[in-house]
Amino acid sequence: MANRARSAYSCSECGAQQPKWAGQCTACGAWNSLVETVTTPEPAVKGRFAGFAARHEMQPLAAVAAGELQRLASGVDEFDRVLGGGLVTGSVVLIGGDPGIGKSTLVLQSLAAVSRETQALYVSGEESAQQIALRAKRLALTADDLQLLAENRLEAILETAHAARPAVLVVDSIQTLYTELLQSAPGSVAQVRETAAQLVRFAKQTGTVVLLIGHVTKEGALAGPRVLEHMVDTVLYFEGDASSSFRILRAIKNRFGAVNEIGVFAMTETGLREVDNPSAMFIARASTPVSGSVILATQEGSRPLLVEVQALVDQSQLANPRRLTVGLDQNRLGMLLAVLHRHAGVAMYDQDVFVNVVGGVRVMEPAADLAVTTAVVSSLRDRPIPQGLVVFGEVGLSGEVRPVQRGQDRLREADKLGFKRAIIPVANRPKRDLADMEVVPVSRIDEAIAALEM
Ligand code: TYD
Ligand code: MG
Repeated sequence: MANRARSAYSCSECGAQQPKWAGQCTACGAWNSLVETVTTPEPAVKGRFAGFAARHEMQPLAAVAAGELQRLASGVDEFDRVLGGGLVTGSVVLIGGDPGIGKSTLVLQSLAAVSRETQALYVSGEESAQQIALRAKRLALTADDLQLLAENRLEAILETAHAARPAVLVVDSIQTLYTELLQSAPGSVAQVRETAAQLVRFAKQTGTVVLLIGHVTKEGALAGPRVLEHMVDTVLYFEGDASSSFRILRAIKNRFGAVNEIGVFAMTETGLREVDNPSAMFIARASTPVSGSVILATQEGSRPLLVEVQALVDQSQLANPRRLTVGLDQNRLGMLLAVLHRHAGVAMYDQDVFVNVVGGVRVMEPAADLAVTTAVVSSLRDRPIPQGLVVFGEVGLSGEVRPVQRGQDRLREADKLGFKRAIIPVANRPKRDLADMEVVPVSRIDEAIAALEM
């Protein structure tokens, strides 16, 4: 081949290309900025990639047939929900998560179902075919037609995939692949970027659904370049506390559906079990009311979710008392404590304050403010919040309780689960009275505390 793709080194600061690696870019003088890349000479877009390069005629929007997306059921309802209704043909989905969280289990369960309908190929660079078969057996999956390939070399994978023409291709994981075009080790920025780019191209050309699994580093970023997130159509994160069996699949980016949609699973001995009523699970409470615990109606994507917020306020021995949160924004807690002091006369400058969301859930929306403040006051005064009560609302810096999105959905979810009383922002008050629930609208933080008789 005359026009073989070659590897070169390009500077991530100025973009200059050099044939050899060096510690310093000779063009701009930046240190450690040279990254290996594949350079493809212009006329190389022939043969296999010809269709890709030939798309140069423009067309008016009206002439483009914007038909319904073709979707394929993944076989796991919660997975489908997060994807926006199933796997879109020709799309690339990146599933990120900590090692051991259950990514391989999820895709294996899904592929088993897919392979009963159509061709599916599971490529693993981490496990042998025997290991995968063993896992399938342990999960009691019937997937006799699922094709397995234990391989790390991208060229071999693409060749097999071109021949086998699967409807769904899983690559577990992108960090174990390498292309012959580059010298860098598998898992390096250059390898991850180039192998992913070629798999994206494969998906678009053939209409195959490609699922890429990616490991997450300790800092919480997908190992390899952030550019991976830009290249794919959908980015999902599989999260969960190592100590609990709950797992949440969250959409971070989705070209074919809503983001922040979540799917909830429980990890059991027989694999991932779907949880279709997560609220009931996250609010398994003690039978007698305890101080510092309050139920929050939060919102995850299109789904209302009830979670328990716990606070512990304790006399501090430190000059700078501690303010710690798990599953909530720490800076926001500091702000809420200041609002409580200034606008409700509750002082906690000599107290350690800890706030936690039960079950390893992360709540990042301001609608949690009212729950955090009432839980903290409840713990400080050792006054339990009565059972059957639910709260939500944002608290502003001047002590006002502000409305939140989708207030009615939150109320309905709480109503469905048998809650009898709700303390909510005035502006979220329902137009009609609810049959089984007393709604207490409040406009200021001190009103909310008064309504709780704490
Ligand atoms: P795995 O899917 O291999 O995680 P990942 O691919 O994200 O690294 O899941 C591994 C963990 O899940 C492992 O610690 C054991 C646990 N597990 C179960 O509890 N039950 C099961 O049925 C399976 C298959 C795994
Ligand atoms: Mg795995």
